Amino acid sequence: MSKTDTLNHTLFAWSKQSGINPIHCTHAKGIYVYENDKKYMDFSSQLMNVNIGHNHPTVNNAIKEQLDKVAYVFPGMSTDPRGQLGKKLKEITPGKLNKTFFCTGGADANENAIMLARLHTGKQKIITKYRSYHGASYGAISAGGDPRKHPFNKNELPGVVHIEDPYCYRCPWGQRPESCQRECVQHLERIIQFEGPENIAAILLEGESGSSGCIKYPYDYWPKVAELAKKYNILTIADEVMSGFGRCGQWFAINNFNVEPDIMVMAKGISSGYIPLGAVTVTDEIAQSYDEQPLPLGMTYSSHALACAAALGCIQVYENENLIERSAKLGHTLNKKLKQMKETHPLIGDCRNTGLLGCIELVKDKESKEHLVPWNAKGADMKISAELVASLRKQGLHTFVRWNWIFIAPPLIISEEELMEGLDIISKAIKKIEN
Ligand SMILES: Cc1ncc(COP(=O)(O)O)c(C=O)c1O
Repeated sequence: MSKTDTLNHTLFAWSKQSGINPIHCTHAKGIYVYENDKKYMDFSSQLMNVNIGHNHPTVNNAIKEQLDKVAYVFPGMSTDPRGQLGKKLKEITPGKLNKTFFCTGGADANENAIMLARLHTGKQKIITKYRSYHGASYGAISAGGDPRKHPFNKNELPGVVHIEDPYCYRCPWGQRPESCQRECVQHLERIIQFEGPENIAAILLEGESGSSGCIKYPYDYWPKVAELAKKYNILTIADEVMSGFGRCGQWFAINNFNVEPDIMVMAKGISSGYIPLGAVTVTDEIAQSYDEQPLPLGMTYSSHALACAAALGCIQVYENENLIERSAKLGHTLNKKLKQMKETHPLIGDCRNTGLLGCIELVKDKESKEHLVPWNAKGADMKISAELVASLRKQGLHTFVRWNWIFIAPPLIISEEELMEGLDIISKAIKKIEN
């Protein structure tokens, strides 16, 4: 059986290899993945990337049509889908962003964004958040603060400086909304001064936080970060790998804050996973540095014609099916329902979402906010998370449970009824733990 072959001859990311029992996906359609005739609602869009849902004919056809013309040429050649996608990204990204360098995924897109920021400014340091994830390659995992990088801690990319997050539910400065003086922004400014603005190339933040717990920025955080960046002559890089392409109810999460970054990093929803693609879009000011000298970046699969065609197909779906507006609308419905769930479940400490990127945070006790599952728990400490996943799977739902966060990020095509059905399944699974 090919599932046995998968287990015997392939390695699973981020997992202890023994004892795993993956869903063996035979086919998928819309918001469902199937193991033969057993169906699972995909409540995480796989890795928060299959935004348009599975097996969409528009994208399938865009790929097939391109395949019959040319699948791949080296990145020194021009192709129609590459040019059209570059132009389209200029139209949908904010501000003065114009030229795109295409990569193969989010991690290498972030690596290239960091290299461009360093080259353009002639400065080395990059400021990022502790509770963030920017990919698993050497530079990207160093840039993130997620504990997935701990095995490599002795050999991180030099020059990354981490700051605390504006985690309002667990404010690192002990503030409550009524007493908050934006200590998070003051903290960032102190770090800039300590590190020396003359050494800092860029501040790299997710457009909106994702796998580190959907920690929502206060409404004026990104604008204040951009203000500080301008004051100290530092570039801003928005990592929209997870939060972009409608996931947060706008083309890009940063649109919710009216901020225009100097560099934007994209992947995941750009092609909804149909073909891997990453992108780094920069302003003309940055691009012009390479008008008269070679751009020192490159990879064999940069600007892959099939990936660009898939992305164009995807963008067509976002537009034709009004998925960006739909995500914003469903986001409000989701928010209302999550608040109700929080009131009725003693174990739900907080719930947060922007559009269809959200999570539930479980606690032992609402008053003390003690984590139900400790942050960065492993092995036996993950028993409750494992029980939750098993219970969801038994009820026909797949999503991610990381420590005490249950993620809610279904494809943007989900109906309101299906969204409620999925949340009811989650509610039942939490109730089981509560009992
Ligand atoms: C914000 C963010 N940046 C970068 C990445 C890395 O993308 P990839 O896995 O395509 O390398 C991720 C992946 O989850 C992400 O969430």
